[in-house]
Amino acid sequence: MAGTIAAANGVGVKVEDTKIVVVMVGLPARGKSLIAQKTNGVMNLVVRYLRWLSINAHCFNVGTYRRADTPHPPADFFAVDNPEGERLRRCAAEAAMRDLIDWFDSGKGTVAILDATNSTKERRRWIAKRCAVHGFEVMFVESKCDDEELIMANVREVKANSPDYEGQDPELAAQDFVRRIKHYECVYETITEPELTYVKLVNVGAQVVINCIRDYLQSRIVYYLMNLHIKPRSIWLSRHGESEFNLSGRIGGDANLSYRGRAYSEKLPELVKQSVGDIDLTVWTSTMKRTIQTAQYLPYRKLQWKALDELDAGVCDGLTYEEIEEAYPEDFRARDDDKYNYRYRGGESYRDVVIRLEPIIMEIERSENIMVVTHQAVIRCLYAYFMNVPQNRSPWMEIPLHTVIKLTPRAYSTQEERFKADIPAVSTFRAQYTSAKLEGEA
Ligand SMILES: *[C@@H]1O[C@H](CO)[C@@H](O)[C@H](O)[C@H]1NC(C)=O
Ligand SMILES: *[C@@H]1O[C@H](CO)[C@@H](O)[C@H](O)[C@H]1NC(C)=O
Ligand SMILES: *[C@@H]1O[C@H](CO)[C@@H](O)[C@H](O)[C@H]1NC(C)=O
Repeated sequence: MAGTIAAANGVGVKVEDTKIVVVMVGLPARGKSLIAQKTNGVMNLVVRYLRWLSINAHCFNVGTYRRADTPHPPADFFAVDNPEGERLRRCAAEAAMRDLIDWFDSGKGTVAILDATNSTKERRRWIAKRCAVHGFEVMFVESKCDDEELIMANVREVKANSPDYEGQDPELAAQDFVRRIKHYECVYETITEPELTYVKLVNVGAQVVINCIRDYLQSRIVYYLMNLHIKPRSIWLSRHGESEFNLSGRIGGDANLSYRGRAYSEKLPELVKQSVGDIDLTVWTSTMKRTIQTAQYLPYRKLQWKALDELDAGVCDGLTYEEIEEAYPEDFRARDDDKYNYRYRGGESYRDVVIRLEPIIMEIERSENIMVVTHQAVIRCLYAYFMNVPQNRSPWMEIPLHTVIKLTPRAYSTQEERFKADIPAVSTFRAQYTSAKLEGEA
């Protein structure tokens, strides 16, 4: 984001301090949650995606400020002619905006997401003005949906689980929610202001209208939003079966599967079938022998991706951890100090791997059911994206061999299941600050 661009007024503006406010607008149950694959709103997905890319992002949800005052508001609360409701809503919007400004002022923020359901031209003008004063860029994201079936499906599935309706009858909750939507509909105004930066997603991406997108980061967010879909699906992850290198504790290389690794590849179709059932699947592997061999008996369409190859260990490729500790003691230590950022001499860091995995994440988001057979570091990075694991923890996660991980994006979270093949393998996990010499590969 470093550099200088010429602003419309001809004055050079530094963009390394870019601060973007992404304002989500749209009627409730009209896709803000829908396009979010039924998680807690698309905002949370955007935040997760940006943080995974090391872009500091935070979500300010006006609804939660309001909820703090009125935990279970009845539908009348949202009526236009309820002045007390209107006053509280305005207070909530202002409280959210104040916190947002403080967060940017504290220095490290790049993208703030403001969830402001109620959208009128006046409210947008107010937000744009407040942001302009502080030099924040504003991008509105509107989700517009007039497909009644989609709306009702979303009302039932998502809103019955919303914190507003905790512990209430789902059918009554849905009815109350429909009444609430009616109140909003009276004042709702779709975005048409030509001077505003906006993205309008119509019927969950069936049509996308883009206006005045100004910079690279904004266009990345737009691209991400365009790739989201709401069809139910799962992602299956598996490491390759045990390789001959794992037996001797070597890292990298392009080894064949070991005897037990081959047993895993033979068992994999049955294991996958158990959790996949009859639905169709596409299997992605890296371009390395051990992942291709692991997937060889799976009866699905297969695709090889160079981007799924294992973290490149550079000069350490083909060595054991013990040999690395011996030959490059400082590197060994430095890697333990900051494994996410440590880059092997002539090789890669976890940060590098995340960057080359970004197109893979986009493609997974666009796709339906995908199984990815790849390597430990790569799985850690993919898993960190879906499960929102912070960077100081993700490189240390234990991803066992001979185990299939199933991830299913759901309302408010991603659900995880693991299926073990019951085929023994060497443990290739080494905990932080343990010596390779003392503890072997354990
Ligand atoms: C939405 O905001 C506008 C402008 O601030 C306000 O007049 C209106 O009453 C609000 N309506 C709802 C339903 O929140
Ligand atoms: C297992 O072996 C492969 C090489 O076949 C290597 O890339 C991988 O790093 C090994 N796993 C560990 C953690 O030692
Ligand atoms: C891997 O297996 C293939 C075919 O089974 C064999 O030709 C090749 O020599 C093996 N490679 C290694 C490094 O053992």
